[in-house]
Amino acid sequence: MNRISRLKKTVTSMCGIFAYVGTRNGIRLALDCLKKMEYRGYDSAGLAYIADGNLITHKAVGKLRNLEKMIDDQTAQCVIAHTRWATHGKVTTENAHPILDATQSVAVIHNGVIENFQQLRHELEREGITFRTETDTEVIANLIAILYKGDLLQAVQEMVPLIKGAWAIAVIHKNHPDECIVAKNSSPLVIGIGVGETFAASEPNALIHHTREVIYLSEGELARIKANSVELFDEARLPITKQTEQLKHSAEEMSKGDFAHYTLKEIYDQPQAVRNAMLSRFFEDYGTVAMDEISISAAALLAVKRVVIVACGTSLHAGLVAGYMLEEIARIPTSVEISSEFRYRNPIVEDGTLVLAISQSGETADTLAAVRELKAKGATIIAICNVQGSTLTRDADSTLFLRAGTEVGVCSTKAFTSQLTVLTLFTIMMARLRHMSKAEGQEFLSALKEIPEQIQQVLAIAPHIEKLADKYASANDFYFIGRRYMYPTCLEGALKLKEIAYINACGYAAGEMKHGPIALLNEKCPTFALCADTLTYDKVVSNVMESKARHSPVICLTFAGDTRLTKIADDIIEIPMTRDELAPITAAVACQLFAYYCAKKRGADIDQPRNLAKSVTVE
Ligand code: M6R
Repeated sequence: MNRISRLKKTVTSMCGIFAYVGTRNGIRLALDCLKKMEYRGYDSAGLAYIADGNLITHKAVGKLRNLEKMIDDQTAQCVIAHTRWATHGKVTTENAHPILDATQSVAVIHNGVIENFQQLRHELEREGITFRTETDTEVIANLIAILYKGDLLQAVQEMVPLIKGAWAIAVIHKNHPDECIVAKNSSPLVIGIGVGETFAASEPNALIHHTREVIYLSEGELARIKANSVELFDEARLPITKQTEQLKHSAEEMSKGDFAHYTLKEIYDQPQAVRNAMLSRFFEDYGTVAMDEISISAAALLAVKRVVIVACGTSLHAGLVAGYMLEEIARIPTSVEISSEFRYRNPIVEDGTLVLAISQSGETADTLAAVRELKAKGATIIAICNVQGSTLTRDADSTLFLRAGTEVGVCSTKAFTSQLTVLTLFTIMMARLRHMSKAEGQEFLSALKEIPEQIQQVLAIAPHIEKLADKYASANDFYFIGRRYMYPTCLEGALKLKEIAYINACGYAAGEMKHGPIALLNEKCPTFALCADTLTYDKVVSNVMESKARHSPVICLTFAGDTRLTKIADDIIEIPMTRDELAPITAAVACQLFAYYCAKKRGADIDQPRNLAKSVTVE
């Protein structure tokens, strides 16, 4: 293997992994725990166990329920199981995990990226190994099989330095029916310790119903798990000990109740989610905010000279809103960065730089990488996150939790509005530490307090929004336009429509339309104009007129009582009057409903849209 070198090509798979060694039926436990991680990937699912000295696998393309159908009364006490999201290697049964080596002795499940897999594969093929899948994981299985001399732990330890990339793996061998080797590098992995049983999973929430005692593996660490023991090793293969941690959060039942989809339920969760995000975090009497979770002194917060926000997707859009607020309200220079771009820059981190890393899941690989780079350069990190125990919360100096409850729908809804709520509170806190008066703080907070009720008012017009969706759902292209606080909001509105309704929706700064995109407007390409920003209202109305002049049908979202647009727009969605900084919250709810009903009309898989996964754990 000495000719193995780093390959540029990146293969990605991003998944949920689970392992069990104990005395209960691990197959049932695996299906139960995979269900809690299915949103990490749902292209295919599979499991493997050892019976009579042979490896048995069951794999099914599509949702987990397809795998469930293959299982009846099989039992096993040592099981590995996997739910897959793939971008390389087609969605086939062969490519579903667990992946076996050529001799059918080793089974591997894997979450992550083996960057040098092609090089390794060529090496192994030259040595006579025949590959049966297109996955990068197959090289891991074959390397372990070749290196195996009777000790599985040693074989995995010798394999690890040969692979490059970000990965978490669980490995079983047909000769070792009572042990599983798990290892990680950059992808998440947690070990759960029960009584006479041991688990491993990509996330603690998958285990919380079975154990609360966990060990988080750090980069390069490896463990041999058996029913009654966990042996830990560091990168240098030396035995180590680690403190177990207790999962403190409550086990949440994931149910969509009477709602047709989790996504709809989560849209309707928002008044309460926003209330939870505010709970005990502000004092109206003093017009100020206290965020006790931040272990940074008021003096240090006052010394902050610059804020850098890193995030992806919906969280990035929340960050963009915060960027406007922090500069305008707290007067702190703020840059908002796409994590996947930022991680490859060589950022300048000066004294007084505070980083806000926003991530619902706390597992987004690009955001984690950006945070590590910023940390290495000495920045202080505050995570804004929804998932307790996630990697981001362990990497950050402090975490502001969203308290939104589990967001199951892949399409982020309540996390966005909760992020905006927390970011608003953070802005007020930073502004009050500086120049904002008590009266200004009180005024802002009382407007924020109205938001849950105002979201309720937007939810009350769902039937109207559904009618509009019926009218517009057949469009193949859409432009969302807005200015200032409505600009990030229109990026978010467009993302929702793309993601769940599969409509090619483009969010654009309204003022930029005439610099190119306006060429695409016609009677088949509607404009969704977000006009709920008082400072730029007149300008956006001009942009709406420009769209109309190109025959684009126009939906205008505006504050209630706005009569000016009724004569111009084809359709109107009204949201309650609020401050410009807070309008993104209620406007987003209207956009979510619009996307939801368009998706429903188009018969899309709303909770688990094609090609997506909830946690993007690879770059
Ligand atoms: O967990 P994160 O907030 O870090 O996830 C970031 C994005 O992957 C996520 O917001 C994605 O864009 C959503 N599916 C959008 O609805």
